[in-house]
Amino acid sequence: MSIYPIMLSQTKFVHRDNINYPFEERGLQFGDGVYEVIRIYNGNYYLLNEHVTRLFRSAEAVKINLPFTKEEVSKLLAELVEKNDITTDAKVYLQVTRGSAPRDHVFPNNVEANVYAYVQHLPRNLDLLKNGVSTITRRDTRWENCYIKSLNLLPNVLAKQEAKEQGCYEAILHKDGFVTECSASNVYLVKDGKIHTHPIRKNILHGCVRMSVERFATDLKIPFIEEGFSIDDITTADEIFLTSSTSEIMPIVQVDSNLIADGKPGSITKQLQAAYEADAHISSTKKVIVN
Ligand SMILES: Cc1ncc(COP(=O)(O)O)c(C=O)c1O
Repeated sequence: MSIYPIMLSQTKFVHRDNINYPFEERGLQFGDGVYEVIRIYNGNYYLLNEHVTRLFRSAEAVKINLPFTKEEVSKLLAELVEKNDITTDAKVYLQVTRGSAPRDHVFPNNVEANVYAYVQHLPRNLDLLKNGVSTITRRDTRWENCYIKSLNLLPNVLAKQEAKEQGCYEAILHKDGFVTECSASNVYLVKDGKIHTHPIRKNILHGCVRMSVERFATDLKIPFIEEGFSIDDITTADEIFLTSSTSEIMPIVQVDSNLIADGKPGSITKQLQAAYEADAHISSTKKVIVN
């Protein structure tokens, strides 16, 4: 996936070859920072305000002073897309750390946050969106504050790597048999025409696409029930799907060795995918769901 040449560094636009941070950088040494991954379709941001709002919530939770207002960062991100002439599908990675300072666990005084953002080309994965993916299940060994989108992703990285080694796309995480979310996405179970997903609590990331799914479900008059489900419920599910800014609304057709229903994406998942494509203004040639 190629990175476009112009990056945002602090509040300036610079060539990616000229980005340089010292070794004593708190993101690098402590994971002391927060981030966002934002989707772009045809050069336009999808759910930008939702991502910016979450960035501010994460930064406040870890006491990082952001060097911009919501309006200023939204404007800088718009400029980043313009300066790289982005007209296709892509994603932006935006990271803010507490800054550069001699290594010490205690917060440094008067340090300026380090900000950078870059754009990467990211076509939609039409094949997976149409046919669905397989997942494994793993214990959720993360901390209690997963609503903070922090740089500390080691348990997520290890779970996703295990999924990859098993030939799977994602790992569904559970605490004592109750499903929280996946390593890099939210997860939902459909049973008897109703969508079930873990409630908004501190132990999951409050996904921006999750908010869209709730809105689509309301519009489609599909009950959206914010109650957790168990690993055992998965075996009798009618449909399972996951969501994230890069995966969109992705059908899950197999969990561990169990096929979900007939092993094909279900009708509620497809209705939500169609609503997503309309909401994100996906052009008709790139649609998964043909109406
Ligand atoms: C752990 C986790 N949960 C959920 C999500 C989905 O969030 P969003 O829909 O905002 O991309 C992500 C996205 O990266 C994630 O890492």
